[in-house]
Amino acid sequence: LTTAATAMALTVTAQAAFASCEDGEIVVKFAHVTNTDRHPKGIAASLFQERVNEEMNGTMCVEVFPNSTLYNDDQVLEAMLQGDVQMAAPSLSKFEPFTKVFQVFDLPFLFPNIEAVDAFQQGPTGQEMLDSMQRRGLQGLSFWHNGLKQMSANVPLILPTDAAGLKFRVQPSDVIVAQMEAIDVSPQPMAFSEVYGALQQGVVDGQENTWSNVFGQKFFEVQDGTTETNHGVLDYLVVTSVDFLDSLDPAVRDQMMTILTEVTDERNAAVGQVDAEARQAVLDNGGVIRELTDEQRQAWVDAMRPVWAQFADGIGQDVIDAAMAAGS
Ligand code: LMR
Repeated sequence: LTTAATAMALTVTAQAAFASCEDGEIVVKFAHVTNTDRHPKGIAASLFQERVNEEMNGTMCVEVFPNSTLYNDDQVLEAMLQGDVQMAAPSLSKFEPFTKVFQVFDLPFLFPNIEAVDAFQQGPTGQEMLDSMQRRGLQGLSFWHNGLKQMSANVPLILPTDAAGLKFRVQPSDVIVAQMEAIDVSPQPMAFSEVYGALQQGVVDGQENTWSNVFGQKFFEVQDGTTETNHGVLDYLVVTSVDFLDSLDPAVRDQMMTILTEVTDERNAAVGQVDAEARQAVLDNGGVIRELTDEQRQAWVDAMRPVWAQFADGIGQDVIDAAMAAGS
């Protein structure tokens, strides 16, 4: 019954979404997992939809499915290869099964700020990464920013020892698993849509995510507090399948890509503001935020930084060096 009800809900959503597409238009289903308001990815995906549907009316029609209504991140790339969805923007951590080079983004305390992330992505190494999964059928189109990650739990976190023995939800990434094990946390890979319930029911004690996700998913409501560690980055790759991109007439593809590039530039430039507003919204809604002294933060660096050594060979030291250079 539950499955039938879910299927029916999806059908209704799909019908509502498709209603705006006309016969003969190329339909681009864009599936993602966050909310649409006050969220860097949600805002960018909706702006892309709005612009394509206005400027390419009659030719192409984008249908955004937010909030994991169509797929979770662990399903969406397979669905894309099957041709069931044409675009998505999973976090960079979700590409590890396709290419180890993306693990660079999960190395703790590598990027000091989003400007360093941007410089690396726009540089030659980052741009090569867009094409790194072509043999597997996926084509990266653009990097979209979200921000730096914070740590929350059902107890106050000041030092890494405060987290020892707890269970934390993690994205399914070997680097993040190792990062958590380095502070004696038990990592529990789990889909984004399940995290709030798991925190609420005590299935896990804590999690790491950006301010827009801590606010957007209301994690702060079911946690003691969030500690401003800024220990890692959570960004996105807008991705499509090689087959879909190849199927487009060059003029159509170019127009779509021009819009995507303009949306990317506009929304990436605004991400600092969206991040700061989400942080403030956590406070305004009764959430607790704990800031660390330099000494306290250094204890997290000392505990987590050693995991780099486990992944350097797989990622490539040249890639790590390029990422570090972008932040210096
Ligand atoms: C997560 O799984 O925590 C994030 O990747 C969700 C998102 O897309 O921001």
